[in-house]
Amino acid sequence: MSAAQVLEGKVAIITGSGNGIGRATAKAMAAAGASVCVSDTLAEDGLRTVSEITEAGGKAIFVQADISSEEQVQKVVNDTVAAFGGLDILVNNAGIGGGMKRIHEISADEFSRVVDVNLIGTFFMTKYAIPHFLKSGDGRIVNIASTYGLIGAPKAAAYCATKGALINLTRQLAVDYGPDHIRVNAICPGYIDTSLGRRGPTMSEADFKAATDRREKAAAMQPLGRQAQPVEVANVAVFLCSDGASFMTGSIVTVDGGCVTTFNYGEASN
Ligand SMILES: NC(=O)c1ccc[n+]([C@@H]2O[C@H](COP(=O)([O-])OP(=O)(O)OC[C@H]3O[C@@H](n4cnc5c(N)ncnc54)[C@H](O)[C@@H]3O)[C@@H](O)[C@H]2O)c1
Repeated sequence: MSAAQVLEGKVAIITGSGNGIGRATAKAMAAAGASVCVSDTLAEDGLRTVSEITEAGGKAIFVQADISSEEQVQKVVNDTVAAFGGLDILVNNAGIGGGMKRIHEISADEFSRVVDVNLIGTFFMTKYAIPHFLKSGDGRIVNIASTYGLIGAPKAAAYCATKGALINLTRQLAVDYGPDHIRVNAICPGYIDTSLGRRGPTMSEADFKAATDRREKAAAMQPLGRQAQPVEVANVAVFLCSDGASFMTGSIVTVDGGCVTTFNYGEASN
């Protein structure tokens, strides 16, 4: 086993791996030797990730699913086990932003959708993955939370609430399943250069550009002064799922260029 093959022989599911952080994580895990289930609502995007993995010599399948559907989640897990003979790793990555609104402006349906994807989706995936981990006596889960789960952020009530819930769910699962050798950790990304919250048929080019500019300006004010590339989060997910992280469980790992170590001092820093 070369140093890079730290997930050799493992089987991993990465939700939302048609784009962004999930896509980078699927590719990094495959490059580290894992057989990967790429899952996403978007078939074209998921199949592109699979092609990129197989063209690089890795193993991957695609299962189309919306993680807020219990039935579809069961299919993701069952198809993965059928294709690769087991399951070792789950990365609960799929998530949505929910739009920029304060709570009195959010409809019940909008709020519920964010809860259904970010929290209930993670519940379903975890619920159906864990029996396979219990069977083999080993499992590794990484929940992709957010710095917005650690702090309050403007116009992101449902997003902050669900990401905060994922953080404490991570700790709780670590307690319940530590004795079963299932390690559960969370990553809190900061500003990562993906299209999260900036895509979709309703957003004009001008709005997209404005949102991108806002993010770049906000990222420039953080200690490392830039957005990260998705692979910089993926590398940490690979590590957390490797034996190198064998004593880590219930850990909440920020990958945020220092965002939540400080607040914006603005004028005071000059
Ligand atoms: N980009 C950031 O700055 C940032 C920061 C903190 C946390 N995060 C978190 O990282 C994760 C990935 O975000 P990203 O930035 O890569 O976003 P992205 O929008 O680029 O990719 C998310 C992927 O998830 C898929 N998806 C959405 N809803 C789904 C559902 N119901 N079922 C299955 N798949 C679904 C999308 O189709 C998309 O391919 C999210 O949980 C997000 O909250 C991102």
